[in-house]
Amino acid sequence: METKRTPVRRTTINLLIDGAMFLAFLVATAPHLSGLAIHEWLSLALGAALITHLLLHWNWIVQVARRFFGKASWTARLNYLLNSLLFIAFATIIVTGIMISEVALPFIGISIARDDFWLGLHRMASDATIVILGLHIALHWSWLVNTTRRLFARSTRKAGRSGATQPATSQESTL
Ligand code: HEM
Repeated sequence: METKRTPVRRTTINLLIDGAMFLAFLVATAPHLSGLAIHEWLSLALGAALITHLLLHWNWIVQVARRFFGKASWTARLNYLLNSLLFIAFATIIVTGIMISEVALPFIGISIARDDFWLGLHRMASDATIVILGLHIALHWSWLVNTTRRLFARSTRKAGRSGATQPATSQESTL
């Protein structure tokens, strides 16, 4: 049977990806706790997730980029600037991380002579990203709270309804 891609399903996917990226970023900020291998592989995976994230929001990116100098609201403009900064800072972390890599790069047979310039930049970009990410989350706070509430309310309602009228096996359909 055909399964429809509803907006709710898409929102759920966005929320899950955003949440997973945020958690992975938190772990990445503490390499001394996680160990270097986890730090490097997880961060590289995070880079891949960022590309997915950008593709999922591509329509929004194109729309605001077009309207940036025209009719866009100031919030949308601020969002766009902040997201661009976030992207630049994050890309810097990944590139500099690769330059100082002690696990992932040697794993594929490449070794680069250590240069403290890259480490300094890696630290700076990481600190900047924490600040920008804080602002990014603050700007999206109502979306985050409302969406999470709606999704929980919806799944609780559906679970209650199908519990009352259908056998437990048919509960998969919703989000
Ligand atoms: C979300 C992405 C990342 C964040 C937030 C991040 C953050 C950090 C932080 C805060 C440190 C500690 C610096 C210090 O000792 O003061 C560090 C160290 C390090 N990072 Fe990353 N990093 C990220 C991605 C990467 C990637 C993709 C790689 C390599 C593939 C990498 C390789 C390293 C290495 C090798 C060190 C240890 C440097 C040393 O102390 O000798 N990082 N990172």
